[in-house]
Amino acid sequence: MRRKIVAGNWKMNTVLPEGEMLVKQLEFLTKDLDNGVELIIAPPFTHLVTVGKYLSENGVKVSLSAQNCADQDKGAYTGEVSAAMLRNAGCKYVILGHSERREYYGENSESLLRKINLVLNEGMQPIFCVGERLEERESNSHFEVVSAQIKEVLYKLRGVELANVIIAYEPVWAIGTGKTASSDQAEEMHAYIRRVVADKFPDYAENMPILYGGSCKPSNAQEIFSKENVDGGLIGGASLVAQDFVAIAKSF
Ligand code: PGA
Repeated sequence: MRRKIVAGNWKMNTVLPEGEMLVKQLEFLTKDLDNGVELIIAPPFTHLVTVGKYLSENGVKVSLSAQNCADQDKGAYTGEVSAAMLRNAGCKYVILGHSERREYYGENSESLLRKINLVLNEGMQPIFCVGERLEERESNSHFEVVSAQIKEVLYKLRGVELANVIIAYEPVWAIGTGKTASSDQAEEMHAYIRRVVADKFPDYAENMPILYGGSCKPSNAQEIFSKENVDGGLIGGASLVAQDFVAIAKSF
């Protein structure tokens, strides 16, 4: 049985009091959640310590993730936040390689490999994002693009390390656009990703959670999650509304 995971990527939204309110709503709404889904939230850096403390002190069934981390372990890197700092703040997960980071902040496979190693060394689990742009899908190169994103980073890990990696497939054209991949398009790519991982890591691919991301909401989550190779979702916009986020988690 593969893990079922629903992770909320808050991106650069909410000031701390708003974030705390959202967490309190999640605490209330998740009390009766018993379908085996693991819930994760990734608030902004400034919220992590406060939110992490609240979650653990109140026994809220939600784990903490960061949205990014530095590609160096420590030192003179003004403005960066290290994997060790995130671990110390209570994070169990770190989202890496989100398309917004690749697109706006020049992240590439080289820096992502450094980040993924730092996150794994701290005993946290990376949520590694892959996905093609619209023009890549339209020119039918989406499989090639995603396969390269995986090979350039994950193929460089050892199998035991890969066992702690979660992949999120997020077609860039579906992020924040209201356009979702159809459940068949998602399944087709998820099955492909699992095959690419299996080519190098035959013992680990079957159990690797692969999440779908891109305009996932309560009205389409059930259909997408019903697919064999879809193990949950990475949710942006809808994770900022507690009712919607929990409704998505209940869609399994
Ligand atoms: P969205 O974002 O759900 O708002 O489309 C998903 C993501 O970027 O993780």
